[in-house]
Amino acid sequence: MIIHTAKFVKSSPDYRKCPEPKKPEYAFIGRSNVGKSSLINAITNNRKLAKTSGTPGKTQLINHFEINEEWYLVDLPGYGFAKISKVMRAKWEKMILDYLFKRVNLMNTFILVDARHEPQKLDIELIEWFGANQLPFTLVFTKSDKLTKKRLNDSLQRYKNYLKQDWEELPAMIVSSAIDKLGVEEILAQIEAANQLFFEAQK
Ligand code: GTP
Ligand code: MG
Repeated sequence: MIIHTAKFVKSSPDYRKCPEPKKPEYAFIGRSNVGKSSLINAITNNRKLAKTSGTPGKTQLINHFEINEEWYLVDLPGYGFAKISKVMRAKWEKMILDYLFKRVNLMNTFILVDARHEPQKLDIELIEWFGANQLPFTLVFTKSDKLTKKRLNDSLQRYKNYLKQDWEELPAMIVSSAIDKLGVEEILAQIEAANQLFFEAQK
């Protein structure tokens, strides 16, 4: 798929305030600093579209970007940074879980995990939650440019072994790098296929 246009639409504090759910959409979720906003920029080939930062917690609202005037990419605020109060965490959970459950045009969620790390508790909890609620997702391993091929393979294998304990079938997985633009084509191919389903169902 070729990206012709990518524009910021709005930031919303909850799913009810998001744009009308008339176009298919795809959310990016994951630990703070994992590279959600950077990957959105790599996909759209626009380094300034989603705000990125070395400081965790940059993205705090649900951000919609309209692509080719046909579908949305959604940048969600990250979880898991140290300096967060219980109240903030509960607020994040309500905002995000409501969005994931109730957003009717949400076709798929890309769950991002850092390719360098072992499976982390919060990431696993989120993945399990998607599974338990039968919500579709793709696991994306970010920042692969920071690893040698061997260490990347070891890391992926470790994740797969871990998931196999609970999952009969492994979820879809993509290795990405916002710097090398790795994984972008695969993500776009998944989106294109899901878009077709959405538009078919509308006919
Ligand atoms: P929050 O908005 O805080 O939840 O973070 P985020 O997940 O949107 O992360 P963001 O895209 O802002 O990136 C965080 C940091 O990681 C920035 O310093 C990025 O430059 C860096 N980064 C993101 N993706 C990659 C990547 O693929 N490779 C490398 N080497 N660095 C990356
Ligand atoms: Mg961000």
